[in-house]
Amino acid sequence: ARKAALGPLVGAVDQGTSSTRFLVFNSRTAELLSHHQVEIKQEFPREGWVEQDPKEILQSVYECIEKTCEKLRELNIDISNIKAIGVSNQRETTVVWDKLTGEPLYNAVVWLDLRTQSTVENLSKRIPGNNFVKSKTGLPLSTYFSAVKLRWILDNVRKVQKAVEENRALFGTIDSWLIWSLTGGAKGGVHCTDVTNASRTMLFNIHSLEWDKELCDFFEIPMAILPSVRSSSEIYGLMKISHSLKAGALEGVPISGCLGDQSAALVGQMCFQDGQAKNTYGTGCFLLCNTGHKCVFSEHGLLTTVAYKLGRDKPVYYALEGSVAIAGAVIRWLRDNLGIISTSEEIEKLAKEVGTSYGCYFVPAFSGLYAPYWEPSARGIICGLTQFTNKCHIAFAALEAVCFQTREILDAMNRDCGIPLSHLQVDGGMTSNKILMQLQADILYIPVVKPSMPETTALGAAMAAGAAEGVGVWSLDPEDLSAVTMERFEPQINAEESEIRYSTWKKAVMKSMGWATT
Ligand code: G3P
Repeated sequence: ARKAALGPLVGAVDQGTSSTRFLVFNSRTAELLSHHQVEIKQEFPREGWVEQDPKEILQSVYECIEKTCEKLRELNIDISNIKAIGVSNQRETTVVWDKLTGEPLYNAVVWLDLRTQSTVENLSKRIPGNNFVKSKTGLPLSTYFSAVKLRWILDNVRKVQKAVEENRALFGTIDSWLIWSLTGGAKGGVHCTDVTNASRTMLFNIHSLEWDKELCDFFEIPMAILPSVRSSSEIYGLMKISHSLKAGALEGVPISGCLGDQSAALVGQMCFQDGQAKNTYGTGCFLLCNTGHKCVFSEHGLLTTVAYKLGRDKPVYYALEGSVAIAGAVIRWLRDNLGIISTSEEIEKLAKEVGTSYGCYFVPAFSGLYAPYWEPSARGIICGLTQFTNKCHIAFAALEAVCFQTREILDAMNRDCGIPLSHLQVDGGMTSNKILMQLQADILYIPVVKPSMPETTALGAAMAAGAAEGVGVWSLDPEDLSAVTMERFEPQINAEESEIRYSTWKKAVMKSMGWATT
């Protein structure tokens, strides 16, 4: 009976910083039919360094595909109904691999990694004009983006230098690494990226939508190792997995959607109109506001980025973005480094026991501070401690920190846009935490609304894949898009209390600055 109700299916890989998922949706109803998730390791080889193993990432994708297909079979759903696959991914994380062997030549240098702090300082001394990078890319010169990570790899990894000399090296963000591997790897894999991911490299001109020769010269990046840049919705290639028989069930299915995860969430939240915004709580926290066809440049520490381009001949949309480096990562830190919880879900129970931080403030500036400060010298602090403070208060302060950071980027967004957001659309793993959602409404002092289906990032990638020319199983016409049920959180404290807490947070932020020196 179920089969009769099913339309064509679309799969989505959601490769985030903390975990990988594969999800399958019904293209007619956007219903999530099955999914599987695998946590990804992060390595911290030195203070400030963050790496991941590209092969583990790829393996996790295979595993998620296999397990999801198994679950679909148990539901009596025919896997051959999967007509397209979309990819969404953690952005900026940088991989260099050998196109002849398919082997990564170094670990992936993760977006949070700070090793390039001195590279950034040196580059900023010889920048040809203050606005050189920002006017072309929409980004500040920062450790966050791929160009400086790639520069570091080229300077420090002998194997990479040799592979570049021998024309064997390929560079990519995670989307490129996955699409190349999933379309055949060393046996003919397609080396491409999409405009949203390209816009996070600091090598991409967001006006001409091409790699920028002057930027490549400035960062001394050989253009031959860069992937070709495509739209976010078109057939890049067909699944060709030599590696595993079970994941091979999807052999021949087109990969036809690709978006950086924050852009994918914007699409999944149906923010197609100028002025519509969403905030996603993942490892970090990212508030994106669609600015239509205009590149709006921020005066308050936000980034200008490519939102999406849903088809080769479709127009490009831009977004203003407030980026927070540490959101869910602070919960993982409490679990892995302090051991005060054993699963991420336990944070809610601890916080609920006290219902207040009791004057304790936690600024999780583990990777410096991103928007609106862009301060690489900041480091994490917990302050306001007394003998009364216990782990429950710290847990509460960690949740509050996520909300305060969001308030900072929302304030910046409101100032840049001129029209304050009347409510905040949210999504991402942490939004299942009801205390966090209520705190967020209290601290922003506007309603917070979340869709009943939280996997909006994957949904966005699936929509892009299903709508691609030559696939055509998903309509992006607003009239055809099913209405989303929302859960709503209204502010429950008084405005004065909200302001007092926020101004104390700001004091704590000031204390976190200037700790690290290069
Ligand atoms: O820019 C980094 C961002 O794409 C990471 O997303 O979901 O892993 O926090 P997430």
